[in-house]
Amino acid sequence: MKIVLLPDLHVTEKGGLVRGIDPIARLDSCVAAIQRLVADADLCVTMGDNVENGRETEYLALLDCLKPLRMPIRFLAGNHDDRDTLLKVMPEVEQDQSGYIQSALETEREVLLFLDTAKARENSGDYCDEKLTWLNQQLKQAGQKSVYLFMHHPPFRTGLWNDHSRVRDADKFLAAVTAARNVKHILLGHTHRASSGSWNGLAWTTIEGTCYANDFELLPAKPNYLAGPAQIGILLLNGGESVLHFQEVLGTYPLIEYSGRSIRDPELSA
Ligand SMILES: [Fe+2]
Repeated sequence: MKIVLLPDLHVTEKGGLVRGIDPIARLDSCVAAIQRLVADADLCVTMGDNVENGRETEYLALLDCLKPLRMPIRFLAGNHDDRDTLLKVMPEVEQDQSGYIQSALETEREVLLFLDTAKARENSGDYCDEKLTWLNQQLKQAGQKSVYLFMHHPPFRTGLWNDHSRVRDADKFLAAVTAARNVKHILLGHTHRASSGSWNGLAWTTIEGTCYANDFELLPAKPNYLAGPAQIGILLLNGGESVLHFQEVLGTYPLIEYSGRSIRDPELSA
């Protein structure tokens, strides 16, 4: 299964700038790269912070940008999103029994769970008991299949500035995912940086995203914002195996003219 990950798009109305850069121009470039590189992907997941201010006009602009993509799209909610407005513009977006933007996708070998870590009018992440009830049901239902979690806010510390806005009180969340013993990898946004690690034996990766990037600065400093290269993720899943490729879309390196022979040359393989 091939999945395109689009974190932290921060789209605003056409012509508008976010921290001095144009999120729509950047997203347009990312969509063009997806069409060029992975148009056959099975799924696209926006990893939250779909828009900058949670406005209806911003969600409409977002949909306009994503229109060329032919694969199904799942939307996560981030701290810059407004859940009610997102659902007003996209009423087809799946919700759990409590109205949170949480859904599952089961394939032959995997179960993908899309979690809602947003809390209205707060930057910090949240995973309350209502959300946890849904998650526990899904983890149980998944049984022996490999489970992949997609969420905006990390529920752990990364050492970066936005640790202050990670999911608060994540003890119950951690207990649920470790007890289930079927979670293989957690994919995340929010940090505006690419990083990877493990948390109590669970693999995790953050992806920089399509809008601005955060410069490297460990706590307690607040980082400078960068007009980064607009990074997307390309996730390959095969049962319990996952590979995440990072693709930078802007400012790509120049192609090197290479005059040596390819290892595919018939003479070399003879
Ligand atoms: Fe963000």
